[in-house]
Amino acid sequence: MDWILRARLLHTPANPFETAGALQHLEDGAVLVQAGRIAATGPFAEVQRSHPDVPVADRRPGVLLPGFVDTHVHFPQLNIIGAMGYPLLEWLQRFTLPAEARFLNAPYARRAARDFVAALARNGTTTALVFGSHIPAAQEALFAEAARSGLRIISGLALADQGLLPPLHTTPEQGYRDSLELAHRWHGQGRIRYAVTPRFALSASEGMLAVCRRLLDEIPGSWFQTHLNENRDEIAAVARLFPWASDYLHVYEHHGLVRRESVFAHNVHPTDRELDALAQARATVAHCPTSNAFLGSGLFPLRRHVERGVRVALGSDVGAGTGFSLLKEGMMAYKTQMLLPGGYPLRPAHLLYLATKAGAEALGLADEVGDLSPGKAADMVLIAPRPGTTLAVLLDAAEGPDEILGALFALGGEDSVAQVWVAGETVYEREAAA
Ligand code: GUN
Ligand code: ZN
Repeated sequence: MDWILRARLLHTPANPFETAGALQHLEDGAVLVQAGRIAATGPFAEVQRSHPDVPVADRRPGVLLPGFVDTHVHFPQLNIIGAMGYPLLEWLQRFTLPAEARFLNAPYARRAARDFVAALARNGTTTALVFGSHIPAAQEALFAEAARSGLRIISGLALADQGLLPPLHTTPEQGYRDSLELAHRWHGQGRIRYAVTPRFALSASEGMLAVCRRLLDEIPGSWFQTHLNENRDEIAAVARLFPWASDYLHVYEHHGLVRRESVFAHNVHPTDRELDALAQARATVAHCPTSNAFLGSGLFPLRRHVERGVRVALGSDVGAGTGFSLLKEGMMAYKTQMLLPGGYPLRPAHLLYLATKAGAEALGLADEVGDLSPGKAADMVLIAPRPGTTLAVLLDAAEGPDEILGALFALGGEDSVAQVWVAGETVYEREAAA
């Protein structure tokens, strides 16, 4: 069925880090949705004039944005959001690894998969690169739930053979077999794709990293994700474990894992050489600002990434990140740059781009999603705060795209997401207030 959605419309078809005027705003805008795709985008009057018989859903004063793209979020960590008090390595040992070992319990893992996918959808995230569980049955549960949800999920079995907790360890041979089996079952099923997922260099032997390369080569169209340069103690430990490596990224490069398909979470403390190598490979850094603040990892050097031509997108990094909302991540990215001497002066257009199109580009999906241009899949989020909230007051008074986006990133979140679509199908709709 064709339909027209009328709303305030904002998106960034171009890259505001490269082009002035990248932000497009239609105060009384519309998209025409046909067979799950956006067939026309423009002022409502124009779209309706060309399609007078198509039914209209008038969602004004709601704001329609492209669905958010989260490029780094951990499936088995929803339940540890907010576990305070420690930096990365202690936080892993005290809270995170024990919490992830609970996924050996299959009913628990199935329920967690439902909760996790629902949390993505109700936050307006339509596409996510998801860091998986170490436990194959739990990862299977995630894929099954992702398939049911209709979201675009790229994920894979987390791999480690040392340095974590014994229940989370596997061997390179077993990890290879389990990964391949999951990929055979799920890669390319509907909107699901496989991502080869070694947890980080600290938990991988050379044999495990070699297996990751093999998996990437043997699963056509697969993606790659891991962690990089998050915390100074972590970096020092990697240097001890891989004494031959010139820096952290070198460990991954040596094993052929730095590619256009690679997404590295954090990179808070890179060397210039590492940035140049990432740019050369056209790999992406997933910037996870609430996590970087929460764990005290540091202030992300965005300007150095931009100036050296490294792709950057946003990740919530739940559970070190403090929620699933990419609006919250965008605002924290802004604050971080304000705090950092010589930080990058982010504008509202940058935040929207980082939360949407940048992620689509990172995941090789920019022809399909990331903005609301004709031809794209109708992946969309409608932000409509409940009446009487501060955001509702602000949006009522907002004039112009910067004011609207500033209000959304400052005050928007899970509660202000009214409806979410993937390929024109509703994947989340907020219940009416009681
Ligand atoms: N490095 C290795 N594992 C993790 C994790 O679960 N979260 C974060 N933030 N960093 C990691
Ligand atoms: Zn992470």
